[in-house]
Amino acid sequence: MELLPLLFLSFCFLTLSGLTFAAESGPPDTRVIVMEDDDVILPCSLSTNENIEKKLFVWKKEGTVPLKEVFMYDDGTYKGQYEEFKGRVSHFPEQLKHGNASIRMKKTQLEDQGNYTCSFPEMKSTKIFRIELVVGAASEPYVRMLQEKGLLECKVSGAYPKPTLAWRDSDNKTLESVQLKDKEEQGRFYIVIQTTVTNPGCYHCVATQIEISHQIPSSETCMHDDIRSESGIIEATLVSVIFGIIGIVVAF
Ligand SMILES: *[C@@H]1O[C@H](CO)[C@@H](O)[C@H](O)[C@H]1NC(C)=O
Ligand SMILES: *[C@@H]1O[C@H](CO)[C@@H](O)[C@H](O)[C@H]1NC(C)=O
Ligand SMILES: *[C@@H]1O[C@H](CO)[C@@H](O)[C@H](O)[C@H]1NC(C)=O
Repeated sequence: MELLPLLFLSFCFLTLSGLTFAAESGPPDTRVIVMEDDDVILPCSLSTNENIEKKLFVWKKEGTVPLKEVFMYDDGTYKGQYEEFKGRVSHFPEQLKHGNASIRMKKTQLEDQGNYTCSFPEMKSTKIFRIELVVGAASEPYVRMLQEKGLLECKVSGAYPKPTLAWRDSDNKTLESVQLKDKEEQGRFYIVIQTTVTNPGCYHCVATQIEISHQIPSSETCMHDDIRSESGIIEATLVSVIFGIIGIVVAF
């Protein structure tokens, strides 16, 4: 008689916990950042360290209906995965006895970005782990001096997430610049900025992707004394010509 409420309660608890853990909400347990074309490990380990060599675990990618199976392992064997992950995603067999169901993804692409879940469906007391994978793409800013003296351009193509560009002088002071291009195409960003410098010296452009803590400086572009010396030469010539004329006039 007293068993029924207990059963009902535990049923409620299981349902509730299942719902809670399966919900695609709340912050992920772990965030992993990787650059495009690099390999990455998505971590998932049981805190109990219990042997899972004979157990079932499933990796899925959220946001797809039905959820895409990234990797599935059961009772000592690999059980399959969705086409786009074939041959690219594998587990660590020697780690299973320590309760470690982490997987390695090779040559990560921008499309791989997303939230992944790692679950042990037959172990009811185990939560579902959520791992957020952020994939970045970066390229060194390309800089050039335009025809007009002192006009410097900095360009980044195909970066993700969106970078901010800044021209800096040799003291790392940020210079004012104008944004000429700010385009997104197929999830990648194309940005061009220009600045005008008047003082000779060396300048570089820095591309910063704050979300992935990534920063790349360009090579340096150096402005020599050209502007000054050239106008200096013109002034000097002009002065000597004027004085020459004055001299000739006075002499006569
Ligand atoms: C699980 O295995 C991977 C691959 O060997 C390793 O990088 C990771 O540190 C392991 N996790 C734990 C908690 O030991
Ligand atoms: C992962 O899920 C969180 C919400 O839990 C969401 O804010 C975030 O944008 C997702 N990450 C990716 C890369 O889709
Ligand atoms: C300029 O700043 C960058 C980071 O923003 C730093 O790595 C670099 O060492 C700095 N250079 C100088 C000359 O201070």
